[in-house]
Amino acid sequence: MRVTGLIRVVAFVFTMVAMWVFLRSYVSFNRKTIRLPRWLEFCVTFPGIPNNKCGLSKPCQDNFFAFKLSSGAANVVGPSMCFENEIIMSPVRNNVGRGLNIALVNGSTGQVTKKGSFDMYSGEPKLLIQFLEEIPDSTLVLVASYDDPGTKMNDKIRTLFSNLGSSYAKQLGFRDSWVFLGAKDLKNKSPYEQFLKNNPETNKYEGWPELLELEGCVPRKVF
Ligand SMILES: *[C@@H]1O[C@H](CO)[C@@H](O)[C@H](O)[C@H]1NC(C)=O
Repeated sequence: MRVTGLIRVVAFVFTMVAMWVFLRSYVSFNRKTIRLPRWLEFCVTFPGIPNNKCGLSKPCQDNFFAFKLSSGAANVVGPSMCFENEIIMSPVRNNVGRGLNIALVNGSTGQVTKKGSFDMYSGEPKLLIQFLEEIPDSTLVLVASYDDPGTKMNDKIRTLFSNLGSSYAKQLGFRDSWVFLGAKDLKNKSPYEQFLKNNPETNKYEGWPELLELEGCVPRKVF
């Protein structure tokens, strides 16, 4: 009898937690289209966290896309990418991996067209070269590192990233942290980039530097 009662309590608690988690993600993705009653919204939103796309502190203007990139933390927590309020790559989505994680977005529609994860420690660099060479014009390129983006790095890959507007691809090495948003036909260096060198003297984690976050609004390509 007592066991049955306990199971009921556990099942009830589990249901409530699952419902809360579901509502939270549901609300954050559909905030635009679905208006919940105020009291319910309060229950499922952490007070103090802004409602802007991707949790940005300020909303983006019209004809700008909101994004937030986060590199991996050491070799423990994978990177994540938010674009226009959608988590497009993350450990929860189970589509990130050690090395470089890359998402391609149509620069005029904002539609995610391709995602790839490239093992830069023991993977085949040719796969990444092919992926980068096939990027069509007017495409935004979102990159987040995890664990080690540098071991299999070569001149060809460095040049391809530099051509997308990267300033740091030239020096990317073993276990560096890197987040970057570039574009296929960028004439100048991209302003959206963060880089932290692996340095045992200053590393936040023993063998790795701190994770990096990059957020902002990137202009839509208007024809
Ligand atoms: C982006 O989307 C537009 C509109 O659908 C399309 O015309 C264009 O070819 C797309 N570009 C790429 C690189 O996919």
